[in-house]
Amino acid sequence: MKNVVVTGGCGFIGSHLVEALLKKGMNVTVFDKADAKKSSIAHLKDVNVIRGDVTKEQDVLKACKGADTIFHLSAVVGVKNYVNDPLGTIDVNIIGTRNVVAAATKENAKLLFTSTSEIFGKNPKVPWKEEDDRVLGATSVARWTYSTSKSMCEHMIFSASEKYGFPATIVRYFNAYGPRQAPIFVVPAAIHRVLNGKPPIIYDGGKPTRCFTYVEDAISGTIAAAESASGEAFNLGSMKETNLNELVKIILKETGREDLGVEYVDTKKLYGASYEDIPRRVPDATKAKRVLGWSATTPLSEGIRKTVAWCRENREWLNG
Ligand SMILES: NC(=O)c1ccc[n+]([C@@H]2O[C@H](COP(=O)([O-])OP(=O)(O)OC[C@H]3O[C@@H](n4cnc5c(N)ncnc54)[C@H](O)[C@@H]3O)[C@@H](O)[C@H]2O)c1
Repeated sequence: MKNVVVTGGCGFIGSHLVEALLKKGMNVTVFDKADAKKSSIAHLKDVNVIRGDVTKEQDVLKACKGADTIFHLSAVVGVKNYVNDPLGTIDVNIIGTRNVVAAATKENAKLLFTSTSEIFGKNPKVPWKEEDDRVLGATSVARWTYSTSKSMCEHMIFSASEKYGFPATIVRYFNAYGPRQAPIFVVPAAIHRVLNGKPPIIYDGGKPTRCFTYVEDAISGTIAAAESASGEAFNLGSMKETNLNELVKIILKETGREDLGVEYVDTKKLYGASYEDIPRRVPDATKAKRVLGWSATTPLSEGIRKTVAWCRENREWLNG
């Protein structure tokens, strides 16, 4: 890997990935519809930025010219966002990924696609191995557009890689968290409230569990997967399951605000009937360990500590 393109490189995970790739001495081009100067990569100097929309084929082909590796991250992310704009979610995933596939084919570039634990839907049989079943809800429920379109992208990439010969690998993240993440996700949202003197919100009685994965772990797994170009999908997640009550307890402890207490919210009331929660999302990440030598090693309390330290120092994020 020498000349790499990162679509969605202005975002949370993208910014950490770009930083790590620059540290490895690569020539990095970010392709994103966001204004890089106002984004999470504003502090990075040696990066080539192309502003554009991944759903526009010619823009993607142009941005990827000469690339030997494409990391495809751009997507509509966050439950609130994809429930509010299900068609946009589908378009960015399906049309955008088709355009990236065309670019990878043209350049014969390695393609690394960032998928999600959401593709397993509500399969109750956890932990999920890579080849486990997807159990999804009705097509009238907007929250499944993200899961379904990401799954379709996985099919598209496996099929195109086989047909056209470019090497492709897929990683599925499980609740990545860390510095720079927008406060619309469970970890940064709770930290944001607590550092602003408000009690953190606990959803659905605090019973749902997640396997929170520190962003640096997610990035090292992503790069290892891209280097492997193994043509497979990998679950990249911590195998430690934590419920929301435990998570909030750690956040209150690490911020020194155990005095704040908590506030309870029902997700059905918050997002309406179009929302369905997934009570448990647990990866079996042993394949990544076996094939890539990767596992998530950052304990949750350490990751939260690092994230809180970043949040405290970044007034703009804190006041946003
Ligand atoms: N954060 C997580 O826990 C998580 C979990 C599973 C999967 N993922 C996947 O990882 C990837 C990165 O997620 P993130 O958390 O950094 O999200 P993010 O929202 O911070 O970043 C997404 C980026 O994509 C860009 N983008 C969106 N639409 C675009 C378009 N039409 N054209 C060009 N750029 C566009 C956005 O401007 C943004 O910079 C996504 O593919 C997401 O599905 C993330």
